[in-house]
Parts: sequence; C-alpha cells; structure tokens
Amino acid sequence: MKKLAVLVSGNGSNLQAIIDSTKCGILKNMAKVCLVVSNNANAYALERARNEAIKNLYIKWRAFEDDSFFDREILKQFQNLKIDIICLAGFNRILGKSVVKIFDGKILNIHPSLLPKFGGKGMYGRFVHEAVIQAGEKKSGSTVHFVDENYDTGKIIIQEAIDVLPEYTPNILAKKVLEIEHKIYPKAIKKIIEN
Ligand code: GAR
Repeated sequence: MKKLAVLVSGNGSNLQAIIDSTKCGILKNMAKVCLVVSNNANAYALERARNEAIKNLYIKWRAFEDDSFFDREILKQFQNLKIDIICLAGFNRILGKSVVKIFDGKILNIHPSLLPKFGGKGMYGRFVHEAVIQAGEKKSGSTVHFVDENYDTGKIIIQEAIDVLPEYTPNILAKKVLEIEHKIYPKAIKKIIEN
C-alpha cells in the first residue's frame, strides 16, 4: 500500500477524486492518502481532508523569505509518515530544490493544459483557460507530469485532450478540463505505482 501526500491550495476537487479512487476506484488496495498540506488556511481542500479524517496541515508560505521553512516542514512530515508519492493538486507554489531532489521521480503535478503549451510561471487555474480561449485553440486538456525544479517542465506521465467549442467561456472550459482531470490523476498515480 503506497502512502500519498497531496499538496493543495484551493477547492481540492482533484484531491477528492484521488481519495475516492483509493476508497472505491482504481487505487483501491494500492494507495492511501495519509496527508494533505495546504499553503492556504481557507482552502476547501482542507475541509475535504477533515471530512475524510485524513491528517491535514496548513503551513504558511512565507513570502520574502527563502522557501526553506515550508520545505523543511513538509519534508519532516513526509519522512515521519513515510510518504511514498507526493501529488500536487491545484497547488499554486513551486516546491523548493531540496524537496524535489530528495523525492526525485516521486512528485506528480496536474496542470490544466496540453503541456508544453500554456505552462510556466503565472499559468495556473483560470489564467490557463483564459489564455487558451484567447489564443483560439481548438483543443485543450490536462497533463499529469513529474515535478522538477521548474514550472511545468517535468516528464509527462499522462495527457488527455478535449475539444474547445466556440461557445466555451473560461469557466466552461475549466469545468470540462476538471472532468478529465478527475479521471487521469488516479490513472497516472496507478501507472507510477505499477512501474
Ligand atoms: C486544476 O484544474 C489543476 O489542474 C489546476 O488547478 C485546478 C485545481 O482544482 N492546477 C494548476 O493550474 C497548477 N498549475 P481543484 O482544487 O478543484 O483540484
């Protein structure tokens, strides 16, 4: 049974999809979410973790300092709980070099576009969908990839596309992309565990 930690900043619908898949979906008897960490005290994702009786922590992200405080705290937690895989799910910060190095090949991120398109610093959440629509793209989608030291550049694990219809607003597109994210994230985790 692999132990998962999930890092979140917002609503946490991907967190919920991962939890559900460990309870009664494709990750059943394979993985368990043991820790949820947020850099946002008000993230609804933390509430979801509480509802599932999963250990959850808010750790303040200190701007204007190096990232070592957050990194040190999460590293301690990961090591104490013997976490095997770390999933970034709507986490709006980049992880420090130390964490990435120690957990190399064990940190996954989901991004709401067909990377390498519409990735990079500042490209998250609705900004991605606005940019996709503004560019007149006919396809968008989601990508699960390994995390390296940069934004959205790690090796791709799974990518799935959807059509962008002319009537789509950024909100509609966000919803459609989330629907596929909830399927591909558990699949990507399964793939990593099986390999
Ligand atoms: C998801 O669409 C995820 O791909 C995106 O934020 C949303 C979080 O939704 N992540 C990024 O943009 C990271 N660059 P959720 O909180 O409901 O899972």
